[in-house]
Amino acid sequence: MAGVIVAFDVFRTKVLSRKMFKLMPACVILLFSIASLPSTNAAYNVVSFGAKPDGQSDSTLPFLRAWMAACNSVAPAMVYVPRGTFLIKNAVFSGPCKNRILFQIQGTLVAPWDYRSLGNSGFWILFQKVSWLTVSGGGTVDGRGAGFWACRRTGSNCPYGTRSITFLWCNDIVVSGLTSINSQLCHFAVARCNNLRIQNVRIIAPSNSPNTDGIIVQDSTGVTIFRSIIRTGDDCIAIGPNTKNVWIERIGCGPGHGISIGSLGNGLNENGVQNVTVTNSVFTKTDNGVRIKSWARASNSYATNINFRNLIMRNVANPILIDQTYCPNNQCPHQSSGVKISQVTYKNIRGTSKTEAAVIFDCSSSNPCRGIRLQDIKLSTAYRATTATCNNAGGYSSGIVIPGSCLGR
Ligand SMILES: *[C@@H]1O[C@H](CO)[C@@H](O)[C@H](O)[C@H]1NC(C)=O
Repeated sequence: MAGVIVAFDVFRTKVLSRKMFKLMPACVILLFSIASLPSTNAAYNVVSFGAKPDGQSDSTLPFLRAWMAACNSVAPAMVYVPRGTFLIKNAVFSGPCKNRILFQIQGTLVAPWDYRSLGNSGFWILFQKVSWLTVSGGGTVDGRGAGFWACRRTGSNCPYGTRSITFLWCNDIVVSGLTSINSQLCHFAVARCNNLRIQNVRIIAPSNSPNTDGIIVQDSTGVTIFRSIIRTGDDCIAIGPNTKNVWIERIGCGPGHGISIGSLGNGLNENGVQNVTVTNSVFTKTDNGVRIKSWARASNSYATNINFRNLIMRNVANPILIDQTYCPNNQCPHQSSGVKISQVTYKNIRGTSKTEAAVIFDCSSSNPCRGIRLQDIKLSTAYRATTATCNNAGGYSSGIVIPGSCLGR
C-alpha cells in the first residue's frame, strides 16, 4: 500500500504522540506536510471498498463506491487505485461533486475479455458532469479490444463497441501520466467539455486495429493536448464539430492516420471548428500528417483559424491534406461540401513524404478554401520530386515552399 495512503489514515485517526514524533522525526514531518496540504485531505482507496487487485474479480462496484465517497466529500478528495490489476465493467463516475477530486491510478484497469459484456453503451469508463477533476498516476487502462477488432474484421453481428475513457459535460479536467492501450474504439473521447488538458499520456494500439483513434474531441472549448505519444490504428487526434480553442503540442504521432479536423459537415446545421493550433510535433509513418476533412454535402459548417506549425513528417503518405470530398458509400452523389475552410496556416513543416503527393488541397467547388498560407515547407521523397495539387484553393505562400505552391488567389 502506498505511503501516502498510510499518511492520510494516520492523520485522520489523530494518533500521533510525542513519543512517535521523537522516534520517527523525518517520517512524521513528511506526514504533517502531506496532511496539512489543503488540496487532498480525504483519501479513498478502492481496495478498502472491496476492489480486488487480482484481475479476476469484478471491481466495478467498489470503484463506484469509492468515487461516491470522494464525490460527497466536502473537502478535496482522492480516489486511489493502488498497484495491481482491477477488472472493471461499464463504470459511470458522475458529478457534480462537492469539491475537487484527484483520481490517482497506479495500477492497471482491464476490461473483460469478452467484449460483448460491455454491451452497446458506447463507453467503458465514463466521467460525466464533473468539474475540477485530475486523473493521474503511472497506471494503465487496457480496453482489451482485440476480440472486438476480430469481430469487426469478420463483420458478424458485432456490438457497436466502446470507447475506453470518456469525458462528457466536464469542466476543468486534467489527465496526466496514464497509459491507455488497446481500446475497442477511441481511447479518450472528450465531448461537451470546457477547459480540459491531457498531458504526458501514452496511447497504444496496433496499427491495423480498426477505428482505434487516440483522442477525439468535439462540442468542446479550451482543450490542450500536450507531450504525449499516440500510436494507433486510426487518427492520433480528431477534432469534431462545435469545437474551439484547441492547443496540441509535442505529440509523437504514428503509426496511425495523423491529426485530423473532421469529418465536418455531415449535418446541415452544424457549428464548425475554430482556433486550433498543432505545433512542435512529429508524425512517423502515418497515413496523413495534418488533415482537414469534410463531407461532400450541403452544410453550414466551417473550419477557420487553424495553425499547423513546426512539424516534422517522417515517411508520411499525405503530409498536408484538405479533403472536402468525403462521402463513404456514395451517400452524397454529385454534391459539393458546404463546409467553409479559411485562414489555415502551414508554417515550418519539413521531412519526408511516402508518396509524391505531399500537398493536396481538394476543396469544395461551391465553397473554395480561402486564406491558406504556406510558409517554409520542405517535403521530399527519397527518389522523386513531390507535388502539390489544388482544387478550388486560394491563399499565398512565402519563404521556401517545396513542393511549390499551387494556390490561386
Ligand atoms: C485560441 O485558443 C487558445 C488556446 O488554444 C487561447 O489561448 C486563445 O485565447 C484563443 N484565441 C481566441 C481568439 O479565442
